[in-house]
Amino acid sequence: MRMSSCVKNLALDSAFQGAVRQVFQFNQNQLRYAYIYTFGCQMNVHESEIFTGILMECGYLQAGSPEQADVILINTCCIREHAEQKILGLLGTLRELKEKKPELIIGLCGCMTQQRHFSEKIRSRFPYVDIVLGTNAADKLPEAVLKALTEQGKAKKTVFLEENDNSILENAPTARARSVTSWLTIMYGCNNFCTYCIVPYVRGRERSRDSNAILSEAQQLVKEGTKEITLLGQNVNSYGKELNESFAHLLRQMNQIDGLERIRFMTSHPKDISDEVIDAFAQCGKVCEHLHLPLQSGSSRILQAMNRHYDAEKYWKIVEKLRTAQPKIEISTDIIVGFPGETEEDFQQTLEFVERMRYSFAFMFAFSPRKGTKAADMEGQVPNEVKKERLQRLIELQNQISTQISRDYIGKTVEILSEGFCAQDEEEAHSAKDPLLQVGRTRTNKKVYFSCEEDTQGKLLQMDITNSATVTLNGKVVNR
Ligand code: 5AD
Ligand code: SF4
Repeated sequence: MRMSSCVKNLALDSAFQGAVRQVFQFNQNQLRYAYIYTFGCQMNVHESEIFTGILMECGYLQAGSPEQADVILINTCCIREHAEQKILGLLGTLRELKEKKPELIIGLCGCMTQQRHFSEKIRSRFPYVDIVLGTNAADKLPEAVLKALTEQGKAKKTVFLEENDNSILENAPTARARSVTSWLTIMYGCNNFCTYCIVPYVRGRERSRDSNAILSEAQQLVKEGTKEITLLGQNVNSYGKELNESFAHLLRQMNQIDGLERIRFMTSHPKDISDEVIDAFAQCGKVCEHLHLPLQSGSSRILQAMNRHYDAEKYWKIVEKLRTAQPKIEISTDIIVGFPGETEEDFQQTLEFVERMRYSFAFMFAFSPRKGTKAADMEGQVPNEVKKERLQRLIELQNQISTQISRDYIGKTVEILSEGFCAQDEEEAHSAKDPLLQVGRTRTNKKVYFSCEEDTQGKLLQMDITNSATVTLNGKVVNR
């Protein structure tokens, strides 16, 4: 059964606004800084933009480093054990900062905090953490900071770990990292309960934002310089079911926004891709020719155990339809290896499927048991060495395919949307010490690096592709 959601409009919320004002007054006359660590998916990246926006309303400036900060927030992820380990390690290193600067406020928010066993661990192992906010509690941040500021040394711990509610934030202050490409959340939560996945337990049930609120936020973003919007949700294809709305209709409305050049969306569940969405995909000129369509496994038997509601054949048919409707489409995916009960034969089916599909890119993971999910307690857990070895084989195959697909771009001319000069870390990752290095993306979502004196941020450019790596391209600007 679907439930109706309640809207928390932060612009009109007197408790929120009151706490913001009080923190602002508390910090008046001094420069205060905030630093946010973000782990996890695009939803988290975007939510950190909201946490940043809220802290800026409270009078904090963005710190260049954690050492400079008066507030440090860790936006956590718990999708795999690896993410959790990294966060626990980080918390350990922050202890030193806290010892040097006892007035430093350390807060945790995001998915990991929503698990009981984790918050208990925080209480016992990391007592210097001041704030713990469950998911969906960004509106409580100013109140929590205020409490940590005013009750320092006494009631240090401010815990707002609430059961998942079904509310939706509207009009939250947001400090977006880039203006050319923006994230826009259209729905929260997930109803699917894939047996390996913790998300429905920590993010609650699906609830969609009102389409008018989405469209007016999109229009506002375009006014501020956004050229490309990525619509976000755990399962965007089921957008609006409880509102009698549909994702296909939303795409068509978005496609009419003047000044918006490109639309992307993620993530799509194959079971919910309707023919209407495929038609909208093909017919809306602004919707880019790239789709992220998680496969998870090429074995129908494993897909069933994962509770995915499709088999390999059905997935293949959806992709055929997509490729017929939009021949230029490139598809990327997520795959898990070593799900409980996965035999070598099941894994071979995944390899064969991947070979046949020719994904442009794939996120590939070893199954990580998550406490509270069905798969964590299933029989037939695959030993770690086997998972690792399968993952390695899959990565090798996918890398060959990605490399071939990238190589096919050489000599072609493609349109990119420039994001301007690369940040230094990106320059280094690209192993180029070129101060003029800029980056943009093709409509098919491939990164193209190029050198250019003039800042091209926000421009649509024609690029001659001159070289390629596994998933990225190099090019030269033409026709300028
Ligand atoms: N173990 C490994 N990978 C997982 N994912 C989700 N849960 C798990 C898990 N327990 C992967 C899925 C999903 C992506 C976001 O993370 O492939 O699509
Ligand atoms: Fe997790 Fe499945 Fe929901 Fe995706 S669709 S968030 S994998 S439960």
